Amino acid sequence: MGKLDAVHTSNAALVQRQPLVAVFFGGTGGIGHVTLRALATAEVNNGGKGLRAYIVGRKAEAAKDFIAECRGIYPGGQFKFVQAKDLSLIREVDQVCADIRRMEEEEEGQDARIDYLMMGQGGSIFLPRIDTKEGIDRTMALMYYSRMRAIINLLPLLLRSTLPATVVSVYAAGAEAKLFPEDLSLRNPSHYSYSQARSHMVYMHTLFMETLAEQNRGKLALIHIFPGLVLGPGFQSPEYPTWFRVVWRWVFIPLFGRILTVPPNECGARMLSLASPRYPPLPVDGPKSEAGVAVGTDGRPGSGVYSLNWNAESNRNGKAYQKINKVEMRRKVWDHTMKAFEVIEAGGVFTE
Ligand SMILES: NC(=O)c1ccc[n+]([C@@H]2O[C@H](COP(=O)([O-])OP(=O)(O)OC[C@H]3O[C@@H](n4cnc5c(N)ncnc54)[C@H](OP(=O)(O)O)[C@@H]3O)[C@@H](O)[C@H]2O)c1
Repeated sequence: MGKLDAVHTSNAALVQRQPLVAVFFGGTGGIGHVTLRALATAEVNNGGKGLRAYIVGRKAEAAKDFIAECRGIYPGGQFKFVQAKDLSLIREVDQVCADIRRMEEEEEGQDARIDYLMMGQGGSIFLPRIDTKEGIDRTMALMYYSRMRAIINLLPLLLRSTLPATVVSVYAAGAEAKLFPEDLSLRNPSHYSYSQARSHMVYMHTLFMETLAEQNRGKLALIHIFPGLVLGPGFQSPEYPTWFRVVWRWVFIPLFGRILTVPPNECGARMLSLASPRYPPLPVDGPKSEAGVAVGTDGRPGSGVYSLNWNAESNRNGKAYQKINKVEMRRKVWDHTMKAFEVIEAGGVFTE
Protein backbone atom coordinates (compact mmCIF):
# COMPACT_ATOMS: atom_id res chain seq x y z
CA MET A 1 0.00 0.00 0.00
CA GLY A 2 2.96 2.34 -0.65
CA LYS A 3 1.41 4.99 -2.96
CA LEU A 4 -1.07 7.50 -1.60
CA ASP A 5 -3.38 7.08 -4.63
CA ALA A 6 -3.73 3.38 -3.82
CA VAL A 7 -4.55 4.32 -0.22
CA HIS A 8 -7.39 6.62 -1.27
CA THR A 9 -8.73 4.05 -3.76
CA SER A 10 -8.75 1.41 -1.04
CA ASN A 11 -10.51 3.75 1.42
CA ALA A 12 -13.16 4.60 -1.17
CA ALA A 13 -13.83 0.88 -1.72
CA LEU A 14 -14.06 0.33 2.04
CA VAL A 15 -16.73 2.97 2.67
CA GLN A 16 -18.74 1.97 -0.42
CA ARG A 17 -18.88 -1.64 0.69
CA GLN A 18 -21.11 -1.35 3.78
CA PRO A 19 -21.91 0.96 6.73
CA LEU A 20 -18.98 0.93 9.17
CA VAL A 21 -18.72 0.81 12.95
CA ALA A 22 -15.38 2.12 14.22
CA VAL A 23 -13.89 2.65 17.69
CA PHE A 24 -10.93 4.94 18.41
CA PHE A 25 -9.10 4.65 21.74
CA GLY A 26 -7.10 7.88 21.92
CA GLY A 27 -9.54 9.42 19.47
CA THR A 28 -9.54 12.85 21.12
CA GLY A 29 -6.04 13.67 19.85
CA GLY A 30 -3.17 12.69 17.58
CA ILE A 31 -3.37 9.73 15.21
CA GLY A 32 -6.79 8.47 16.37
CA HIS A 33 -8.18 11.92 15.64
CA VAL A 34 -6.70 12.17 12.12
CA THR A 35 -7.80 8.62 11.26
CA LEU A 36 -11.42 9.31 12.17
CA ARG A 37 -11.22 12.56 10.20
CA ALA A 38 -9.93 10.54 7.19
CA LEU A 39 -12.82 8.10 7.59
CA ALA A 40 -15.48 10.85 7.73
CA THR A 41 -13.86 12.50 4.69
CA ALA A 42 -13.75 9.21 2.74
CA GLU A 43 -17.45 8.64 3.50
CA VAL A 44 -18.52 12.02 2.21
CA ASN A 45 -16.21 12.06 -0.83
CA ASN A 46 -17.13 8.58 -2.06
CA GLY A 47 -20.83 8.24 -1.35
CA GLY A 48 -20.13 6.01 1.66
CA LYS A 49 -22.83 3.78 3.13
CA GLY A 50 -22.75 5.22 6.67
CA LEU A 51 -20.68 5.41 9.85
CA ARG A 52 -21.03 4.95 13.61
CA ALA A 53 -17.88 6.05 15.43
CA TYR A 54 -16.96 5.87 19.12
CA ILE A 55 -14.30 8.30 20.34
CA VAL A 56 -12.57 7.27 23.58
CA GLY A 57 -10.43 9.82 25.44
CA ARG A 58 -10.08 11.87 28.58
CA LYS A 59 -10.87 15.39 27.43
CA ALA A 60 -14.59 16.02 27.03
CA GLU A 61 -14.07 19.54 25.63
CA ALA A 62 -11.67 18.30 22.92
CA ALA A 63 -14.15 15.53 22.08
CA LYS A 64 -17.02 18.02 21.79
CA ASP A 65 -15.07 20.19 19.34
CA PHE A 66 -13.93 17.17 17.38
CA ILE A 67 -17.46 15.74 17.11
CA ALA A 68 -18.66 19.11 15.79
CA GLU A 69 -15.82 18.99 13.22
CA CYS A 70 -16.75 15.42 12.18
CA ARG A 71 -20.44 16.30 11.84
CA GLY A 72 -19.40 19.27 9.69
CA ILE A 73 -17.43 16.94 7.41
CA TYR A 74 -19.98 14.12 7.31
CA PRO A 75 -23.45 15.11 8.58
CA GLY A 76 -24.75 11.59 7.85
CA GLY A 77 -22.40 9.96 10.41
CA GLN A 78 -23.01 9.20 14.09
CA PHE A 79 -20.18 10.26 16.42
CA LYS A 80 -20.27 9.32 20.12
CA PHE A 81 -17.88 10.20 22.93
CA VAL A 82 -16.98 7.65 25.62
CA GLN A 83 -15.09 9.32 28.44
CA ALA A 84 -12.15 7.56 30.07
CA LYS A 85 -10.52 8.87 33.24
CA ASP A 86 -7.26 7.00 32.84
CA LEU A 87 -6.74 4.14 30.40
CA SER A 88 -3.54 3.08 32.16
CA LEU A 89 -5.91 1.32 34.58
CA ILE A 90 -7.29 -2.01 33.38
CA ARG A 91 -10.47 -1.56 35.39
CA GLU A 92 -11.04 1.75 33.63
CA VAL A 93 -10.57 -0.01 30.27
CA ASP A 94 -13.20 -2.53 31.43
CA GLN A 95 -15.61 0.29 32.25
CA VAL A 96 -15.11 2.00 28.88
CA CYS A 97 -15.54 -1.27 26.96
CA ALA A 98 -18.69 -2.08 28.96
CA ASP A 99 -20.05 1.38 27.99
CA ILE A 100 -19.30 0.77 24.30
CA ARG A 101 -20.87 -2.69 24.39
CA ARG A 102 -23.97 -1.41 26.14
CA MET A 103 -24.41 1.53 23.74
CA GLU A 104 -23.87 -0.64 20.68
CA GLU A 105 -25.98 -3.60 21.85
CA GLU A 106 -28.88 -1.59 23.34
CA GLU A 107 -29.13 0.86 20.46
CA GLU A 108 -28.30 -1.38 17.51
CA GLY A 109 -29.59 -4.82 18.55
CA GLN A 110 -28.87 -7.38 15.82
CA ASP A 111 -26.65 -4.90 13.97
CA ALA A 112 -24.29 -4.39 16.94
CA ARG A 113 -20.68 -4.91 15.87
CA ILE A 114 -17.24 -3.33 15.44
CA ASP A 115 -15.54 -3.35 12.03
CA TYR A 116 -12.46 -1.27 12.84
CA LEU A 117 -10.79 -0.80 16.24
CA MET A 118 -7.88 1.62 16.56
CA MET A 119 -5.82 2.00 19.72
CA GLY A 120 -3.36 4.89 20.05
CA GLN A 121 -3.79 5.83 23.72
CA GLY A 122 -0.78 7.20 25.56
CA GLY A 123 1.56 9.33 23.51
CA SER A 124 4.33 10.18 26.02
CA ILE A 125 7.63 8.30 25.81
CA PHE A 126 10.94 8.31 27.72
CA LEU A 127 9.15 8.43 31.08
CA PRO A 128 10.69 6.64 34.11
CA ARG A 129 8.97 3.58 35.54
CA ILE A 130 5.90 4.51 37.60
CA ASP A 131 3.64 1.67 38.71
CA THR A 132 -0.12 2.17 38.56
CA LYS A 133 -2.14 1.21 41.63
CA GLU A 134 -2.87 -2.05 39.77
CA GLY A 135 0.86 -2.88 39.72
CA ILE A 136 1.81 -2.31 36.05
CA ASP A 137 4.31 0.24 34.72
CA ARG A 138 2.18 3.15 33.44
CA THR A 139 3.84 3.37 30.01
CA MET A 140 3.48 -0.38 29.46
CA ALA A 141 -0.11 -0.26 30.74
CA LEU A 142 -1.10 2.41 28.21
CA MET A 143 0.74 1.04 25.21
CA TYR A 144 0.38 -2.70 25.70
CA TYR A 145 -1.82 -4.08 28.52
CA SER A 146 -4.77 -1.67 28.12
CA ARG A 147 -4.82 -2.35 24.37
CA MET A 148 -4.85 -6.16 24.67
CA ARG A 149 -7.52 -5.85 27.35
CA ALA A 150 -9.67 -3.71 25.04
CA ILE A 151 -9.41 -6.34 22.28
CA ILE A 152 -10.42 -9.13 24.67
CA ASN A 153 -13.34 -7.10 26.06
CA LEU A 154 -14.60 -6.04 22.64
CA LEU A 155 -14.10 -9.44 20.98
CA PRO A 156 -17.85 -10.29 21.00
CA LEU A 157 -18.52 -7.18 18.88
CA LEU A 158 -15.42 -7.60 16.68
CA LEU A 159 -16.44 -11.17 15.84
CA ARG A 160 -19.79 -9.87 14.60
CA SER A 161 -18.17 -7.68 11.93
CA THR A 162 -19.28 -8.54 8.44
CA LEU A 163 -15.97 -7.41 6.91
CA PRO A 164 -14.11 -9.16 8.93
CA ALA A 165 -12.82 -6.86 11.68
CA THR A 166 -9.48 -5.02 11.68
CA VAL A 167 -7.66 -4.16 14.92
CA VAL A 168 -4.89 -1.55 14.72
CA SER A 169 -2.48 -0.74 17.55
CA VAL A 170 -0.38 2.33 16.78
CA TYR A 171 2.98 2.24 18.48
CA ALA A 172 6.47 0.99 17.57
CA ALA A 173 6.14 -2.13 15.40
CA GLY A 174 9.50 -3.53 14.29
CA ALA A 175 11.42 -2.23 17.35
CA GLU A 176 12.11 -5.63 18.95
CA ALA A 177 15.55 -5.59 20.65
CA LYS A 178 16.49 -7.30 23.93
CA LEU A 179 13.99 -9.58 25.69
CA PHE A 180 13.99 -10.75 29.34
CA PRO A 181 11.71 -13.80 29.13
CA GLU A 182 11.72 -14.26 32.92
CA ASP A 183 10.93 -10.60 33.64
CA LEU A 184 8.27 -9.57 31.13
CA SER A 185 7.04 -6.77 33.46
CA LEU A 186 10.64 -5.48 33.83
CA ARG A 187 10.41 -5.42 37.65
CA ASN A 188 14.17 -5.72 38.10
CA PRO A 189 15.28 -2.03 38.21
CA SER A 190 18.44 -2.88 36.24
CA HIS A 191 16.23 -4.13 33.36
CA TYR A 192 13.99 -1.07 33.09
CA SER A 193 14.49 1.80 30.67
CA TYR A 194 12.00 3.28 28.22
CA SER A 195 13.68 1.61 25.23
CA GLN A 196 13.75 -1.75 27.00
CA ALA A 197 10.04 -1.37 27.85
CA ARG A 198 9.36 -0.52 24.19
CA SER A 199 11.19 -3.68 23.08
CA HIS A 200 9.09 -5.83 25.46
CA MET A 201 5.84 -4.18 24.39
CA VAL A 202 6.62 -4.81 20.73
CA TYR A 203 7.46 -8.50 21.30
CA MET A 204 4.36 -8.87 23.43
CA HIS A 205 2.14 -7.22 20.81
CA THR A 206 3.27 -9.74 18.18
CA LEU A 207 3.13 -12.81 20.40
CA PHE A 208 -0.24 -12.01 22.04
CA MET A 209 -1.78 -11.03 18.71
CA GLU A 210 -0.57 -14.26 17.08
CA THR A 211 -2.44 -16.26 19.72
CA LEU A 212 -5.56 -14.16 19.16
CA ALA A 213 -5.32 -14.63 15.38
CA GLU A 214 -5.02 -18.38 15.85
CA GLN A 215 -8.03 -18.46 18.21
CA ASN A 216 -10.17 -16.36 15.83
CA ARG A 217 -9.25 -17.67 12.39
CA GLY A 218 -11.11 -16.05 9.53
CA LYS A 219 -12.53 -13.36 11.82
CA LEU A 220 -9.85 -10.95 13.01
CA ALA A 221 -6.95 -9.16 11.32
CA LEU A 222 -4.49 -7.73 13.87
CA ILE A 223 -2.04 -4.97 13.02
CA HIS A 224 0.73 -3.30 14.97
CA ILE A 225 2.10 -0.24 13.15
CA PHE A 226 4.88 2.31 13.54
CA PRO A 227 3.21 5.46 12.14
CA GLY A 228 6.40 7.43 11.36
CA LEU A 229 6.85 10.84 12.90
CA VAL A 230 3.45 12.54 12.95
CA LEU A 231 3.44 15.95 14.57
CA GLY A 232 0.51 16.61 16.89
CA PRO A 233 -0.35 18.21 20.23
CA GLY A 234 0.99 15.13 22.08
CA PHE A 235 4.58 16.33 21.67
CA GLN A 236 3.84 19.40 23.83
CA SER A 237 2.64 17.23 26.72
CA PRO A 238 3.92 18.39 30.14
CA GLU A 239 4.49 14.68 30.90
CA TYR A 240 7.67 14.79 28.79
CA PRO A 241 10.99 15.45 30.53
CA THR A 242 12.26 19.02 30.03
CA TRP A 243 15.34 17.87 28.05
CA PHE A 244 13.09 16.13 25.54
CA ARG A 245 10.84 19.17 25.03
CA VAL A 246 13.84 21.52 24.62
CA VAL A 247 15.66 19.29 22.12
CA TRP A 248 12.42 18.59 20.28
CA ARG A 249 11.30 22.18 19.91
CA TRP A 250 14.60 23.99 19.36
CA VAL A 251 16.78 21.38 17.62
CA PHE A 252 14.86 18.52 16.06
CA ILE A 253 11.87 20.28 14.50
CA PRO A 254 13.80 23.24 12.97
CA LEU A 255 16.44 20.90 11.51
CA PHE A 256 14.49 17.82 10.47
CA GLY A 257 10.78 18.48 11.00
CA ARG A 258 9.76 18.97 7.39
CA ILE A 259 11.73 16.16 5.83
CA LEU A 260 11.19 13.43 8.41
CA THR A 261 7.51 13.76 9.21
CA VAL A 262 4.39 12.13 7.77
CA PRO A 263 1.68 14.82 7.28
CA PRO A 264 -1.22 14.12 9.70
CA ASN A 265 -3.87 13.83 6.96
CA GLU A 266 -1.71 11.35 5.04
CA CYS A 267 -1.14 9.36 8.22
CA GLY A 268 -4.90 9.23 8.88
CA ALA A 269 -5.64 7.98 5.36
CA ARG A 270 -2.92 5.33 5.65
CA MET A 271 -4.22 4.11 9.01
CA LEU A 272 -7.71 3.74 7.57
CA SER A 273 -6.38 1.78 4.57
CA LEU A 274 -5.29 -1.00 6.96
CA ALA A 275 -8.90 -2.20 6.85
CA SER A 276 -8.31 -3.38 3.27
CA PRO A 277 -8.32 -7.06 2.14
CA ARG A 278 -4.53 -6.70 1.82
CA TYR A 279 -4.33 -7.56 5.55
CA PRO A 280 -6.67 -10.55 5.97
CA PRO A 281 -7.28 -12.65 9.09
CA LEU A 282 -5.51 -16.01 9.34
CA PRO A 283 -7.73 -18.22 7.14
CA VAL A 284 -9.49 -21.17 8.73
CA ASP A 285 -7.44 -23.58 6.60
CA GLY A 286 -4.07 -21.77 6.94
CA PRO A 287 -2.38 -18.91 5.03
CA LYS A 288 -2.55 -18.94 1.24
CA SER A 289 -0.11 -17.15 -1.06
CA GLU A 290 -2.51 -14.83 -2.82
CA ALA A 291 -1.31 -11.91 -4.92
CA GLY A 292 -1.53 -8.54 -3.20
CA VAL A 293 -1.68 -9.93 0.34
CA ALA A 294 0.78 -8.55 2.92
CA VAL A 295 3.36 -10.70 4.68
CA GLY A 296 2.46 -11.47 8.30
CA THR A 297 4.65 -11.58 11.40
CA ASP A 298 5.50 -15.25 10.82
CA GLY A 299 6.88 -14.47 7.35
CA ARG A 300 3.95 -16.01 5.45
CA PRO A 301 1.55 -13.92 3.33
CA GLY A 302 -1.85 -13.37 4.90
CA SER A 303 -1.08 -14.97 8.27
CA GLY A 304 -3.38 -12.62 10.21
CA VAL A 305 -0.94 -10.50 12.28
CA TYR A 306 1.01 -7.71 10.58
CA SER A 307 3.96 -5.64 11.80
CA LEU A 308 3.99 -2.54 9.60
CA ASN A 309 5.99 0.58 8.89
CA TRP A 310 4.51 4.08 8.37
CA ASN A 311 3.72 3.27 4.70
CA ALA A 312 1.87 0.07 5.69
CA GLU A 313 4.62 -2.19 4.33
CA SER A 314 5.89 -5.04 6.50
CA ASN A 315 8.77 -4.23 8.88
CA ARG A 316 8.77 -7.65 10.53
CA ASN A 317 11.92 -8.22 12.51
CA GLY A 318 12.50 -11.86 11.62
CA LYS A 319 15.99 -12.04 13.17
CA ALA A 320 14.71 -11.12 16.64
CA TYR A 321 12.37 -14.14 16.66
CA GLN A 322 15.06 -16.56 15.44
CA LYS A 323 16.75 -16.05 18.83
CA ILE A 324 13.75 -17.20 20.88
CA ASN A 325 11.52 -20.26 21.11
CA LYS A 326 8.47 -18.56 19.62
CA VAL A 327 5.94 -21.24 20.53
CA GLU A 328 7.02 -21.16 24.17
CA MET A 329 7.18 -17.35 24.27
CA ARG A 330 3.71 -17.04 22.76
CA ARG A 331 2.36 -19.18 25.59
CA LYS A 332 4.37 -17.29 28.20
CA VAL A 333 3.19 -13.86 27.00
CA TRP A 334 -0.42 -15.04 26.80
CA ASP A 335 -0.34 -16.54 30.32
CA HIS A 336 1.43 -13.49 31.76
CA THR A 337 -1.01 -11.01 30.22
CA MET A 338 -4.14 -12.97 31.09
CA LYS A 339 -2.86 -13.49 34.65
CA ALA A 340 -2.42 -9.71 35.02
CA PHE A 341 -6.03 -9.20 33.86
CA GLU A 342 -7.33 -11.92 36.19
CA VAL A 343 -5.55 -10.51 39.27
CA ILE A 344 -6.63 -6.94 38.56
CA GLU A 345 -10.22 -7.91 37.75
CA ALA A 346 -10.39 -9.61 41.14
CA GLY A 347 -9.33 -6.32 42.78
CA GLY A 348 -5.70 -7.32 43.36
CA VAL A 349 -2.33 -5.83 42.48
CA PHE A 350 -0.28 -7.60 39.79
CA THR A 351 3.22 -8.37 41.04
CA GLU A 352 4.66 -10.90 38.55
N1 LIG B 1 2.94 10.73 16.69
C1 LIG B 1 4.09 10.13 16.42
O1 LIG B 1 4.98 10.67 15.75
C2 LIG B 1 4.33 8.72 16.89
C3 LIG B 1 5.48 8.05 16.45
C4 LIG B 1 5.70 6.74 16.88
C5 LIG B 1 4.80 6.14 17.75
N2 LIG B 1 3.71 6.83 18.17
C6 LIG B 1 2.80 6.16 19.12
O2 LIG B 1 1.51 6.12 18.55
C7 LIG B 1 0.52 6.25 19.58
C8 LIG B 1 -0.40 7.42 19.22
O3 LIG B 1 0.41 8.60 19.12
P1 LIG B 1 -0.25 10.04 19.02
O4 LIG B 1 0.78 10.91 18.40
O5 LIG B 1 -1.59 9.94 18.43
O6 LIG B 1 -0.37 10.42 20.58
P2 LIG B 1 -1.12 11.69 21.22
O7 LIG B 1 -1.24 12.78 20.21
O8 LIG B 1 -0.37 11.99 22.45
O9 LIG B 1 -2.58 11.13 21.52
C9 LIG B 1 -2.73 10.21 22.51
C10 LIG B 1 -4.18 9.95 22.77
O10 LIG B 1 -4.19 9.07 23.88
C11 LIG B 1 -5.04 9.62 24.88
N3 LIG B 1 -4.45 9.35 26.19
C12 LIG B 1 -3.20 9.60 26.60
N4 LIG B 1 -3.04 9.20 27.87
C13 LIG B 1 -4.24 8.70 28.26
C14 LIG B 1 -4.72 8.14 29.45
N5 LIG B 1 -3.94 8.00 30.53
N6 LIG B 1 -6.01 7.73 29.49
C15 LIG B 1 -6.82 7.90 28.43
N7 LIG B 1 -6.42 8.41 27.26
C16 LIG B 1 -5.14 8.81 27.18
C17 LIG B 1 -5.13 11.09 24.62
O11 LIG B 1 -6.39 11.49 25.13
P3 LIG B 1 -6.66 12.98 25.71
O12 LIG B 1 -6.53 13.88 24.52
O13 LIG B 1 -8.04 12.93 26.18
O14 LIG B 1 -5.64 13.23 26.73
C18 LIG B 1 -5.03 11.14 23.10
O15 LIG B 1 -6.32 10.98 22.54
C19 LIG B 1 1.27 6.43 20.88
O16 LIG B 1 1.40 5.20 21.53
C20 LIG B 1 2.64 6.92 20.43
O17 LIG B 1 3.65 6.58 21.35
C21 LIG B 1 3.45 8.10 17.77
